[in-house]
Amino acid sequence: SEQGCLSIIVLGASGDLAKKKTFPALYHLFDQGFLQSGEVHIFGYARSNLSDDGLRERIRGYLKGAPEDLSEFLQLIKYVSGSYDNGEGFEKLNKEISKYEESNQSGSYRRLFYLALPPSVYPSVCRMIRTYCMNPSSHPGWTRVIVEKPFGKDLDSAEELSAQLGELFEEHQLYRIDHYLGKELVQNLLVLRFANRLFLPLWNRDNIDNIQIVFREDFGTEGRGGYFDQYGIIRDIIQNHLLQVFCLVAMEKPVSLKPEHIRDEKVKVLQSVNPIKCEEVVLGQYDGYKDDPTVPDDSNTPTFASVVLRVHNERWEGVPFILKAGKALNSRKAEVRVQFKDVPGDIFKCKKQGRNEFVIRLQPSEAMYMKLTVKKPGLEMATEQSELDLSYGMRYQNVKIPEAYERLILDTIRGDQQHFVRRDELKAAWQIFTPLLHDIDAGKMKAVPYQPGSRGPKEADELSARVGYVQTHGY
Ligand code: BG6
Repeated sequence: SEQGCLSIIVLGASGDLAKKKTFPALYHLFDQGFLQSGEVHIFGYARSNLSDDGLRERIRGYLKGAPEDLSEFLQLIKYVSGSYDNGEGFEKLNKEISKYEESNQSGSYRRLFYLALPPSVYPSVCRMIRTYCMNPSSHPGWTRVIVEKPFGKDLDSAEELSAQLGELFEEHQLYRIDHYLGKELVQNLLVLRFANRLFLPLWNRDNIDNIQIVFREDFGTEGRGGYFDQYGIIRDIIQNHLLQVFCLVAMEKPVSLKPEHIRDEKVKVLQSVNPIKCEEVVLGQYDGYKDDPTVPDDSNTPTFASVVLRVHNERWEGVPFILKAGKALNSRKAEVRVQFKDVPGDIFKCKKQGRNEFVIRLQPSEAMYMKLTVKKPGLEMATEQSELDLSYGMRYQNVKIPEAYERLILDTIRGDQQHFVRRDELKAAWQIFTPLLHDIDAGKMKAVPYQPGSRGPKEADELSARVGYVQTHGY
């Protein structure tokens, strides 16, 4: 049911995520004609005492667009204030939504709740939505709920949260966002792998030596130390964002593009991951992290981690997947680096130049490039490493690459769960990391210090080298 009136309710409307991501994404959808005035209404809900205009002004600062478009968009937004744990506010919210729906009279009623909230209030807020704000069953249409990570802190707490939400909503109503799944080059992974004959015979243990999935940020946890210290880099980035990318790189071909078929394959590959060995983990914490007054002085929380995943199946046995993420490093970058084995019987002695690599740069400056050994142009028979390069900025100059949140919100409106995390997938993801996380929390593994602005602990480079990664030269 793509037709009918649509109410988008942003809970936590005055918070950071809503201002920086949710409202701008809604604006871009509006601007591109996916949300039409007269068909959509946006409700911001939060505890603060704000007027409609008060909220609009707060949002305006985060939007870049023509003034007339901005005001047309901002007019769609209404503010309702209330608490997250008692019915009064939600009753009021429901009245506002119903008032709008009645005035619209389109015959179909769609309610999308976006929880831009800390996870501690998910269960109570979901209960409130369920009790007061559902699209009445006598109405055609639907009610859907978008939730953001963190979904728990380990296997047990995640399972408890899943069970609580599962009592209130059906799985098809729950959209667990991992915004990495909305990124253009992450979505391209499936196409690359399964629509190109070139890769099919190569994508396995016979040809690939190791795969790195790397996330770097060149800023620290300033301003979010309190949140971050409770979670650490593994829960913040690796267990979700990098693991989702891992799934798309490592999974088998799905039966079809149906969301359930794709997610079935993700679950399967996650279930094939062996327990992580502590010798194949490096943890780091940047110097100065604990200067944040909200971070305890004795914190052992890693702001950097490199872990090796070993996949126990026919395709990948013996191929290390190095998942690495860090804050306060020397650059901001996210990429997948597939390193192929050396050429057997190497008559060119090209080994010294480095191996073939296929790199998918997710951000910034989306690109895919393949490192190849070529003849160095000139009279000598010398070789060097060069690249076949598909840089999106060059090849798709006039194409605007959508923001992850835009795409994922649109998917939710369309009822497509392909790029959302299913309950069993979440469980399998926690199963991989929970023993390691418990060891870290118990202080059994220590984070080594590193300089902000560096590559991270040198132990991480040593680990990569030990499991087979060869630093390539030339690019
Ligand atoms: C969030 C993390 O999920 O992703 C942040 O909580 C991180 O710590 C952010 O900065 C990175 O997202 P992106 O899209 O900027 O790579």
